[in-house]
Amino acid sequence: MREKIEQIQKEAEEKISQIKNMQELQDLKVKFLGKKSELSNLLKTLGTISPEERPKVGSFVNEARTKIENRIQEAEEKIKAIVLSEKLEKETIDITLPATKIKRGSKHPLNRVIEEIEDLFVSMGYDVVEGPELETDEYCFERLNLPSGHPARDMQDSFYITDKYLLRTQTSSVQARTMVINEEKSPIRIITLGKTYRREDDATHSHQFNQIEGLVIDKKDTKISLADLKGTLEVFMKKMLGEKTELRFRPSYFPFTEPSYEVDVTCFKCGGKGCSLCKQTGWIELLGSGMVHPNVLKMNGYDPEKYAGFAFGTGIDRLAMFKYGITDMRYLYTNDIKFLSQFDRKDEE
Ligand code: DAH
Repeated sequence: MREKIEQIQKEAEEKISQIKNMQELQDLKVKFLGKKSELSNLLKTLGTISPEERPKVGSFVNEARTKIENRIQEAEEKIKAIVLSEKLEKETIDITLPATKIKRGSKHPLNRVIEEIEDLFVSMGYDVVEGPELETDEYCFERLNLPSGHPARDMQDSFYITDKYLLRTQTSSVQARTMVINEEKSPIRIITLGKTYRREDDATHSHQFNQIEGLVIDKKDTKISLADLKGTLEVFMKKMLGEKTELRFRPSYFPFTEPSYEVDVTCFKCGGKGCSLCKQTGWIELLGSGMVHPNVLKMNGYDPEKYAGFAFGTGIDRLAMFKYGITDMRYLYTNDIKFLSQFDRKDEE
């Protein structure tokens, strides 16, 4: 009997030492320790053995069971370790593989132009100020020498919210705001940039667009003059459109300036020779400007006998279109990724 038990144990140990996976181990567990195993069968026959032998055989069987159980456990741990290390080996990350690209946004062409203009004017000692987009009729028109019924209002088809409030049609409104709040009448040198709104929509006009406005006011005895305006706009345009750009001042009319000028720049496409973009004239109309009208100074708290200044304004969208060769202004507002991604780091590289 003892021999038989030892033989079973030996066979079990041998088989366990050869197993390759969990399934085989499971099968051996059933074979050697299960209800129908040889050891279990032996225990069932204990009754047929003499009472003196019984405890001995019983303890032999149990000893063998325990040993087999221990071997199985050891084997199980070994297999688990092998499976784990195989898994780790398979799952190692190949750091030489190129990483998946993270999609990155890019600066909007309008913001690029805005930042460039701000940098330039700040470097010339200007402050950058802001004004509300929802504006009163008073600041958008009245205080700029455009009383109700003035024919020049027709040039700016407006979105009125109530009788009093409208979406500003021009950033010139910030001129009046800046003058009114400057109670000490210290010199003003500001630019303001932002959204403006008019009822128009085609390839070169959008109901929402952006303007930049400049205002400089100082005591008359500083001899502030049109020459300062000319010099400032020349620096501005050359910086935005290239050093070769030339400017042409054409007398014009704006209610808030006197004298007023429209400013043309040499066509950056043909360099002034004449092409389809400039309609064969060699020039492109870009800015409005002039010396601040005495009425505007007076209405906003400045004595026109003592103070003088100049102002200018232009569309940022048009500047961006010329700078980047954009053919339809509406591209700037449709948020088309294909369009926007073309400006990815374009002038930062
Ligand atoms: N606000 C004018 C417009 O939207 C542009 C303009 C003209 C601004 C003359 C000025 C200026 O400051 O002096 O058409």
